[in-house]
Amino acid sequence: METKLLDVRLPEGGSPEELEAARTRVQASIAEASEILKRGGLVAFPTETVYGLGGDALNPDAARKIYAAKGRPSDNPLIVHIADERQLDVLTDKVSDTAKKLMKAFWPGPLTMIFDKLPGVPDGTTGGLQTVAVRMPDDPVTLALIRESGLCIAGPSANLSGGPSPTSWTHVYQDLDGRIDGILQSGESRVGIESTVLDLTGEVPMVLRPGWITPEQIAEITGGKVEMDPALFVNRQRDEAAGDPAPKAPGMKYKHYAPKGEMIILQGEQEAVRREAERIYKEKIAEGKKVEKLLFSDENLAEAAHTLFAELRRCDEENVEFIVASAVEASDSVGFAIMNRMLKSAGYHVVRV
Ligand code: TXA
Ligand code: MG
Repeated sequence: METKLLDVRLPEGGSPEELEAARTRVQASIAEASEILKRGGLVAFPTETVYGLGGDALNPDAARKIYAAKGRPSDNPLIVHIADERQLDVLTDKVSDTAKKLMKAFWPGPLTMIFDKLPGVPDGTTGGLQTVAVRMPDDPVTLALIRESGLCIAGPSANLSGGPSPTSWTHVYQDLDGRIDGILQSGESRVGIESTVLDLTGEVPMVLRPGWITPEQIAEITGGKVEMDPALFVNRQRDEAAGDPAPKAPGMKYKHYAPKGEMIILQGEQEAVRREAERIYKEKIAEGKKVEKLLFSDENLAEAAHTLFAELRRCDEENVEFIVASAVEASDSVGFAIMNRMLKSAGYHVVRV
C-alpha cells in the first residue's frame, strides 16, 4: 500500500499569509488522517514520548492491522489514546478517586493508566486481557486528530516490533513505509522514551513500565504507596527456571530496542567509565570493527532520554558493529527508566569498571 505523508508542521516565522496557508495545510492533514482512521485504516501520529501507530481502538479489524504492520505478537496489548476524560466512559466504569487525581496532575502527559475494561473494548485491542491501558498524549496535533475523528485511538509505538521506538517521523517512515496508510509529519518527540505504565486495578498502584513520570511524583499526588513490578529488577533476560517473576505488562517480556550491532554498558565512576570506553573503542578499531561510543551524562537525563533511541537507530544506519555505552544513574527514577531500555538494548550485558 502507499503510505501518505501528511505534513502537520508549522513554520517558525513567515508572513501572516504563509502562516495561514500552513494552518490550512495542517487542518487538511488532520482531516485526512481522521478519515483514514474512521475507515479502519492506520495512521502514525506524534506524541511527546514517541510516535504511535494509530487505529480505531474499538474496531477489532484495526487492531489486527496494527499487529500485522508492526510484526507484533498479538498478546501484547495496545495503549488507547484519548483527548477528553469523558471518552473513558466507553472504556471503563472503574475510575477511582486516585485515578482522577493522577489525570488532573499528569494529563495530557506521559502517564498511562490501566483500568478494568468494559465489554465494548475488543479483546484484539487489549491482547485478551480484561483490562485496558489509557493515556492522553501531550501533542496538539494528535489531540486535534482524536477530537476530529471522535475515536479512541489505539496506538503502540510506531516501530517494527523489537526495534527502538521512533522519536521522529523519519524513523516511522524507515520502519513502516508501505505497511500503513499514513504518517503525520511533525517534529521530534520531546521526551524520547515511552510513557510510564501504571496499573490501577489492584489495591496499591503499581508501575509496570518506568518512564518520565516517576513513582515519587505519583506518590506525591496519591498520598499513598506506589509499588514497582518486581520483574523490573531482574537484570537479565527472564529465566523461568530460576524463578524470575514474569512482568505484568506483556510487552515488557519481549526483546526490545535491540540495535543490530553488539552493545555493552559500562557501569562505574564516570571518569573510569570514560577511560575504559576509550580503551575498548581503540581496541575494536584496531580489530577493524565499526564502533560507536554512547556516553550519557548523569547530569542531563532529559538529553539522554531524548536521544537514546535516535542514537541506536543511527548506529544501525551506519552499520555499527559494536556499541560501548555508559550506564546512567539507576538510583534516580528517570535514570532507572532510561537504564531499563538500555539494558534491553544491550541484552543485559553490563560490565563494572
Ligand atoms: O509513550 C507511549 O506509551 C507510546 C505512545 C505512542 O503513547 N506507546 C507505547 O505503546 O509505548 P507500546 O504498545 O509500545 O507499549 C505499551 C506497553 C506494553 O509494554 C504493554 O504490554 C503495556 O503497555 N500494556 C498495555 N496494555 C496493558 C494492560 N492492559 N495491562 C498491562 N500492560 C499493558
Ligand atoms: Mg513499543
